[in-house]
Amino acid sequence: MDDFQYRNGQLFAEEVNINDLVASVGTPAYIYSKRTLTSHYDRLTEAFKEIDPIICYSIKSCSNLHLCKLLAERGSGMDVVSGGELYRAQLAGADMSKVVFAGVGKTDAEIKQGIDAQIGYFNIESEAEFENIAAIAQKMGKTTHAALRVNPDVADPRTHAKTTTGKKETKFGVDIERAKQFFKSYGHNPHCRPTAIHLHIGSPIYSPEPYVQAIKKALLLINDLRADGFTIDALDIGGGFAADYETGQSPAWTEYAQAIIPLVKDKGLKIILEPGRTISANAGILVTEVQYLKTGGSKKFVIVDTGMHHLIRPAMYEAFHFIWPTQVDPTQQPAKRTESPDLPGLELTDVVGPVCESSDVFAKQRPMPPVQRGDLLAIFTAGAYGMVMASHYNTNPFPPEVLVDGDQATIIRRRETYEELVEAEQQTQPVAIYS
Ligand SMILES: Cc1ncc(COP(=O)(O)O)c(C=O)c1O
Repeated sequence: MDDFQYRNGQLFAEEVNINDLVASVGTPAYIYSKRTLTSHYDRLTEAFKEIDPIICYSIKSCSNLHLCKLLAERGSGMDVVSGGELYRAQLAGADMSKVVFAGVGKTDAEIKQGIDAQIGYFNIESEAEFENIAAIAQKMGKTTHAALRVNPDVADPRTHAKTTTGKKETKFGVDIERAKQFFKSYGHNPHCRPTAIHLHIGSPIYSPEPYVQAIKKALLLINDLRADGFTIDALDIGGGFAADYETGQSPAWTEYAQAIIPLVKDKGLKIILEPGRTISANAGILVTEVQYLKTGGSKKFVIVDTGMHHLIRPAMYEAFHFIWPTQVDPTQQPAKRTESPDLPGLELTDVVGPVCESSDVFAKQRPMPPVQRGDLLAIFTAGAYGMVMASHYNTNPFPPEVLVDGDQATIIRRRETYEELVEAEQQTQPVAIYS
């Protein structure tokens, strides 16, 4: 699953003892394992190698430049959704022909940036957006390529409503029934060439079945479009492949591959994948220090020095993250990450952050080993949608990010200071821009 494992009751990232590492870097801190990140990319690539897909790592899941570079060096393309993410992909040295640019609200400046960078495809989210991209490309005297994002009206019932994107009522893509009309209107546009179909049905998708349903619908569409004389040379099946928030929760990559490959091989289509969390989620943990213990009614609260401002998933999606002390009695070493570990001496605990919101809760009534002020807790599977969604709410600085590689650890983003927090407000005197 990953390289964050207990030995004699002590948590290690690869060969590095987490308590020793935290003694020099402090808390809270995001800690990543290079071996986990890169082996996830390699194993996913291996599972799909029969169809040699273009893998576009979804930067939005975890965007630290040093981590993006590691993946770009292995040949990964990038899935981006903003000018800022495209900038990161460029700095990471990604092959721009393997960059896809999604997002429902691309601005003119972002579109120009993508055309200039000669990205692989704009994933088109609406007719209006297509017309704008084509007009901008024409003005620039350039040609760009597009994949129409179709909305196949498919979802995994286990995906949270806030991360389901493949149903009709969501804001993403164009209803699949409108796709033929789209190609009639724009299929031969010389400035923006729509030569691919894009899907992204949501995340995480805990079984191959929703992909199968969505791909079957897309292939019928592609057949019809080809019969009508349109060139369709690629199918982007998006991201959403699951991660192990609990041990064994997500299907193996080979399971997804075995269901998807027979559908798409030998169809004259380049297949594009946009995996994010399945690569990055288990590659990172967030380590925090216990500040206080208190009781409220019959409940026992453990108050820690990180919160929803650093990891918003529990507050936003009611997401489960396994949380455990970094040092435990060996009898309490968890064999599995699960909501209810079957171990001796556990106490029902609420783990909460310091933010002034009642949703700033990481765990409710969770059986955990008893802890004391000063103990460290690891919040697991925090590599994806963790640091990238961090905010400064309550004027809290961002935590550092640390990369472990074997027995070495490197700071890949330093802890933010209070001075940096207010820098943009202090740089200039307030300037009147309207009166
Ligand atoms: C278009 C698109 N592709 C890929 C992803 C990555 O999803 P995941 O990290 O679950 O693989 C997302 C996530 O929101 C997305 O919107």
